[in-house]
Amino acid sequence: MQTARWVTVMKPSFIREILKVTAQPGVISFAGGLPAPELFPVPELVAAFADALAGSGRQLLQYSPTEGDPGLRAVLSERLTERRVPAGPDDILLTNGSQHGLDLVAKALIDPGDLVLVENPTYLGALQAFGPYGPRIQPVESDEEGMLPGALADAVARERPKLVYVMPTFQNPRGTSMGAARRTAIAAVCRQAAVAVVEDDPYGELRYRGEEQPGIRSFWDQAIYLGTFSKTLAPGLRLGWVTAPPALMGALKLGLQATCLHVGTLTQRVAAMVLSSADYPIHLARLRQEYGRRMSVMLGQMESAFPAGTRWSNPDGGLFIWVELPDGLQSLDLFHLAVAQKVAFVPGQPFFVGEGGDSMLRLNFSNSTPAQITEGMARLGRAIAQLTGAGAPLGT
Ligand SMILES: Cc1ncc(COP(=O)(O)O)c(C=O)c1O
Repeated sequence: MQTARWVTVMKPSFIREILKVTAQPGVISFAGGLPAPELFPVPELVAAFADALAGSGRQLLQYSPTEGDPGLRAVLSERLTERRVPAGPDDILLTNGSQHGLDLVAKALIDPGDLVLVENPTYLGALQAFGPYGPRIQPVESDEEGMLPGALADAVARERPKLVYVMPTFQNPRGTSMGAARRTAIAAVCRQAAVAVVEDDPYGELRYRGEEQPGIRSFWDQAIYLGTFSKTLAPGLRLGWVTAPPALMGALKLGLQATCLHVGTLTQRVAAMVLSSADYPIHLARLRQEYGRRMSVMLGQMESAFPAGTRWSNPDGGLFIWVELPDGLQSLDLFHLAVAQKVAFVPGQPFFVGEGGDSMLRLNFSNSTPAQITEGMARLGRAIAQLTGAGAPLGT
């Protein structure tokens, strides 16, 4: 059987391959971007599913409109607007998670050969989502805050891109964020050139310190915004949304209809109920407190366990810390030593378009307990020391 050309061009996700290795017993894994299952609001979801089915079961088990539950879109509109991501209910389309949102945006905008500009490093899953539509993907020079507006302006002037993809808040993989000035500048470049810009924001509500920043939509109402319940409720719900200008909404809906008609009716209603409940702010506060604690434990342990010259990001939220090894040491070499020590992470290279990331790695702190983080950082510190040639032999 002859598959489509994109299948042969696309590589399987390196992270998924790593996750197979790390599923072995006894491995402390900082590799995936998984939330803590012990923090899923299971009793609240049990009650909401039961109430929804008992109250409106026949309606909620039926097909429903493509754009999604009006109640959920109304609650989301209020919450987003409060968070300075202005959006009316009709600007919101429910999706099966933001990965689906990335696919829909690409489906609506990209013809084969179109140019997509991304930060470097960037979210691997976005590259995978765009891939089947045949774009040329080019990295834009980036620093700790993400994409550099000057470099973006140059790229836009040189070669008209179709789409710009950014993660301004708690970027995956760096964990770092754009300040207000950077956001304004990125929005201005895209607005002036009328180039579509996507803000992907799965982590914005997981802030542990610092001030919340405005969304790109607050500087340009044509900006696209992707949100998800994966990190604040549970990824297994597969529920997220695209916020888009009216001119794009028709194409997004057509794309969604073509793949799946609409997102699960019952799940959307349950999400609306949970979001509107008095317990939700308590749930969010608990997530922030516990993830913030895990991040602090990781940062503190890195300070004491990592050899001199190792550097790392110091995020205000999200789920990741980005590490740079000393003396150009290779994170892939470290990966093999670390796995032998039963500790895992994602090497930096797969997050880069083109060259880069060889000395870097991404650590997740949400899916390990503070005790696992402490032990895992000690193991990783020993593995880095061994790689530098300064450490005691592993196993001691
Ligand atoms: C930046 C980014 N975008 C999108 C996604 C996909 O999330 P979802 O579970 O909503 O599909 C992730 C998942 O980790 C992510 O990190």
